[in-house]
Amino acid sequence: MPPRPAHPLRSLLKQMPIYAGFKQLGHYPDFWWWKLRGEPRRIPHVIKQRAVIEYAQAFGLSTLVETGTYYGEMIAASAKRFRRIYSIELDPRFAHRAQERFRTYSHVEIIHGDSQTAVPALLQRLNERCLWWLDAGYYGWGGGFGNPKRLGAELDAILADRIRDHVILMDDADGVNGQAGAPTLEELIASIESAYPNRRVEVAHNILRITPSRSAI
Ligand SMILES: C[S@@+](CC[C@H](N)C(=O)[O-])C[C@H]1O[C@@H](n2cnc3c(N)ncnc32)[C@H](O)[C@@H]1O
Repeated sequence: MPPRPAHPLRSLLKQMPIYAGFKQLGHYPDFWWWKLRGEPRRIPHVIKQRAVIEYAQAFGLSTLVETGTYYGEMIAASAKRFRRIYSIELDPRFAHRAQERFRTYSHVEIIHGDSQTAVPALLQRLNERCLWWLDAGYYGWGGGFGNPKRLGAELDAILADRIRDHVILMDDADGVNGQAGAPTLEELIASIESAYPNRRVEVAHNILRITPSRSAI
C-alpha cells in the first residue's frame, strides 16, 4: 500500500526546529496509550529507549552507535547514559538538523552518510565494544525500497570486527520478512548463529538482539 500523504500542518511542523522536541513530548503519552490498548504491535519509542539503556548497562558499554538518526530522539533519550555517541544518517536534512541540535554535546558525533559504507569506516576508528542500535530503515524507508544486502553487510562487518563482543539491537525485526529481497527472520537468525556460534540471537518487542552467548541478560 502506498504511504498516506502527510497532513499539510504536520508537514509544515516537521520543517521547524521545534518539531524534534514536540515529537519527544509525545513519547510517554504514546507509551501509556500503548499500554492501555493492551500493547499492540507497534512498539512505542520509550520501549526502544529502555532496551538501549538496559543492554548498555547489562554489558557495561559506554559507547552507542546508531544507524538512522532521524530527529535524534534516541540520542536525546540516551545522551546522559553514554560517554560517546555516534549516529549515522543518510538524509542530509536530518543529518544537518541533528548536527545543529547536538552541537553543544561534545560526546555526540553525527555522521552524514550511507550506513553501509559508514559502519565499516567507523569500525576502523573504534577501540572498544559498543552498543549498536541499527535503525536505518533497512527494508525500505519513507515508501522507498532499501538495498536488501545492506543489513547483512553491516551485521557481518560488526560481528567479524577485530573488537569482540559488540552488542547489537536492530529495530523493526518484522521488516525482515522474506519480501523484496529480504531474508525471512528465521533465515537471518540461522545465518548469524551458523556464522557466529558464540552469539545469542533473539527477538523481543520487534527488536532483534545479538549478544555474546555468555549473556548478561
Ligand atoms: C526509523 S528512522 C530512525 C529513528 C532513530 N534511530 C530513533 O530511534 O529515533 C530511520 C532513519 O534512517 C535513515 N536512513 C535510511 N537509509 C539510511 C542509510 N542507508 N544510511 C543511514 N541512514 C539511513 C532515514 O533517513 C531515517 O532518518
